[in-house]
Amino acid sequence: MTASPPKLFVKSYGCQMNVYDAERMADALAPQGYVAAGSAEDADLIILNTCHIREKAAEKVYSELGRIRKMKQETGRSPKVAVAGCVAQAEGAEILKRAPVVDLVVGPQSYHRLPELLREAAEGRRPVDTEFAVEDKFDRLAAPAPKAIRGRGVTAFVTVQEGCDKFCTFCVVPYTRGAESSRPVSQIVAETERLVAAGVREVTLLGQNVDAYHGEGPDGRSWSLARLMYELAEIEGLARLRYTTSHPRDMDDELIAAHRDLAKLMPYLHLPVQSGSDRVLAAMNRKHTADEYLRLIGRIRAARLDLALSGDFIVGFPGETDADFEATLAIAREAGYASAFTFKYSPRPGTPAADMDGQVPEPVKDERLRRLQALIAAQQAAFARSLVGRRIDVLLDRPGRHPGQLAGRSPYLQPVQIVAPGAAIGDVVSAVVTDVGANSLFAALRTAAERPDDMSMTPEATA
Ligand code: SAH
Ligand code: SF4
Ligand code: F3S
Repeated sequence: MTASPPKLFVKSYGCQMNVYDAERMADALAPQGYVAAGSAEDADLIILNTCHIREKAAEKVYSELGRIRKMKQETGRSPKVAVAGCVAQAEGAEILKRAPVVDLVVGPQSYHRLPELLREAAEGRRPVDTEFAVEDKFDRLAAPAPKAIRGRGVTAFVTVQEGCDKFCTFCVVPYTRGAESSRPVSQIVAETERLVAAGVREVTLLGQNVDAYHGEGPDGRSWSLARLMYELAEIEGLARLRYTTSHPRDMDDELIAAHRDLAKLMPYLHLPVQSGSDRVLAAMNRKHTADEYLRLIGRIRAARLDLALSGDFIVGFPGETDADFEATLAIAREAGYASAFTFKYSPRPGTPAADMDGQVPEPVKDERLRRLQALIAAQQAAFARSLVGRRIDVLLDRPGRHPGQLAGRSPYLQPVQIVAPGAAIGDVVSAVVTDVGANSLFAALRTAAERPDDMSMTPEATA
């Protein structure tokens, strides 16, 4: 009789980088025989892959650890418990003090050391590894075996850049993810080729400041994000490219031109502005004005008419007045968002803004958040409605809500429900948007005979 393989359960919070890292952890542990567990209750190793960006996110880890402690008592099971991610990096050994249930703490640049840290934990030591890699941190992770990639669906993330040197005064990322660094082109191409060979059709290039990408190319020179994407677009079978998240200061002409010229690059851009007030933008250390942002958006839209703009906003930054907040509403109206993430400012330990005067009372933040969210929701709905009657390409990525339906994504990243007889997950189908739901579009397939050659975004006659 052989022992059953050890089971791993990773729970991820926070950004897409953590989603990507969760797969990397599974890859690092695969040689140890670890397989995926269906739930925490079932696991021999539970990893909480944490986020430190706002207080609420960071505190979640402690309530989850409380649940795990209770689960251990009730079931008599004794899985090893690891805390990874940005809270691990920020709090390190503090976590061991606050939560006796934790066996090991590992920061985002040390996941390749998981097998070793687990051995130490098995000996009853409680290791903490939050070292920042000195050399190339991207070299340390083994490439996943093709078997491990399969089953991950038709869309995938690929990290191309990590860390941040921007030091916005509200943000923990430069401290939790370290200095900005880019992965070599050859590694990214090889990983993307492996993904595509395993059935992936759409790749989203990830970085905390992805448009600052400057990885080493095969010619020994530093390549831009645009150049990297032209290279990736050559991979046969890859249908779509996306990238996230960008900083306005790093959007250059070449990248804007790629939105016009690179057919595989989807017309979607996540470009956070945070605030519409120049005074607040300066206090945030964003290093651009509201007007510069708007002019940039104008140039990008000129390159790609149907661009869906997304963004991030913070309300209630220290010192934000009613007038500053009105400027935020104004820039949102003027830029015109297809979607956006809105946050209440959350003071983070160790960041300059946490010690600034003029912290905004919670009820004021609540009210501003509510107003901004209402505006964004209206813009999002209007953008979705503007697509009704138009033809869009849909990448089918999962079964639909109802029998006979498939679900996918529009070029603008909206979920789409579609009846597509004969089509399969992984196909890109051309369909007409018929209706708009609360959070998704409805679309209907058209046959080749019905399909006009015209690929433009002009509304089609629906009669
Ligand atoms: N690198 C990206 C964003 C990374 S963090 C950029 O520069 O745009 C994701 C978002 O979380 C930020 O854009 C910001 O809107 C929000 N955020 C970061 N720190 C925050 C804080 N202390 N309080 C509230 N929101 C915050
Ligand atoms: Fe944080 Fe600013 Fe860096 Fe974005 S650019 S990760 S908001 S410090
Ligand atoms: Fe959170 Fe770290 Fe991402 S703080 S948003 S998980 S980089």
